Amino acid sequence: MTTRRLVLSRSASLLGAASTGLLLPELARAQAGKIRVGLMLPYTGTFAQLGVAIENGFRMALAEQGGKLGGREVEFFKVDDESNPAKGIENANILVQRDKVDVLVGTVHSGVQMGIQKVARDTGVLSLIPNAGVHAATRGLCAPNVFRTSFTNSQPTRALGKVMVDKGHKKAVWITWKYAAGDEAFEGFKESYTAAGGTIVKELGLPFPNVEFQALLTEIASLKPDAVACFFAGGGAAKFIRDYAAAGLKDKIPLYGSGFLTEGVLTAAGPAADGILTTMHYSDSLDTARNKNFRLAYAKEYKLQPDVYAVQGYDTGLLLVQGANAVKGDMANKKALYAAMEGATIDSPRGKWKMSPQHNPVQDMYLRKVEAGENKVIGIAAKALADSGVGCKLT
Ligand code: PHB
Repeated sequence: MTTRRLVLSRSASLLGAASTGLLLPELARAQAGKIRVGLMLPYTGTFAQLGVAIENGFRMALAEQGGKLGGREVEFFKVDDESNPAKGIENANILVQRDKVDVLVGTVHSGVQMGIQKVARDTGVLSLIPNAGVHAATRGLCAPNVFRTSFTNSQPTRALGKVMVDKGHKKAVWITWKYAAGDEAFEGFKESYTAAGGTIVKELGLPFPNVEFQALLTEIASLKPDAVACFFAGGGAAKFIRDYAAAGLKDKIPLYGSGFLTEGVLTAAGPAADGILTTMHYSDSLDTARNKNFRLAYAKEYKLQPDVYAVQGYDTGLLLVQGANAVKGDMANKKALYAAMEGATIDSPRGKWKMSPQHNPVQDMYLRKVEAGENKVIGIAAKALADSGVGCKLT
């Protein structure tokens, strides 16, 4: 309600300005001024590193354009969303209503994304999702002004089930944080694992971002499944990997996951991560010039190794660059801007990809194995995998 009223009063004052002849200079100034980019990401908490990697990657794509979008300078506005869903709408409104950003880039956590999605739908602000995989954003609550450059939560795990059954693991336990990302990752796992002939003997969970895994690991030990599959990410993933090994499970019950489990955490997890198999739309070791050059440039600039989050941030930048260049920086030309982004081919370190009709990447899923502190690609688990996009109406 508040949001809508604010929007109405803003357009009413613009109309007032028009009748007094002020509209054109105002528009001209907006056109010539800087493009306002809002970054709404987690900079504290278990996903803090993910937020930093996304911002780094995003800035790198813009830096390749001399820091400009469609010929215009860029001004950044930042909010730490703390991965706190309760503040999702409020934080998005800080960027959209107070800072009047032209584009909102965010975020990591699916629950927080739902707040951004509401603000994006209410105000029409261009919203680019660099991580959060919540289905609704590109299914039932999709919008013409919302584009995702990452994945849907069930995409990586839809490539996982068959891999596990092919390895002879017929009975699995699933474990995750109980919130949209974990629940939707489970949907993909359940679908692919049961279709391949596997049986899920137990679904285990704990609230986000809880990392007290001990009781659940004891339960896994007594259930004795052939394998365990999971969704965890960030600091919590590093702890889960270490606790799994410390509980004596590593050599007895193979651990699988959507690839977030082993992204950006390999130094923190140490040898406990060796041998973990995951499915994901990126791998450090992809043997392409594009990936190698990206990794070298990123490491040089940030003194850090890039991970999937850095790639997603970078691709978000590439997408925005293509859109802004197509309209020569005129971000108000939404029809042409969105058409350019819908038609874009993103030449990503993960491999080239395009948007589905619902604005989510259609992409290959790699099978990766942790070896010597790196996610090594050992195969393609699914080719050109698209989310169903079910329930999305964009017209
Ligand atoms: C999510 O909440 O959507 C999420 C968070 C971290 C990930 C993946 C998905 O690594």
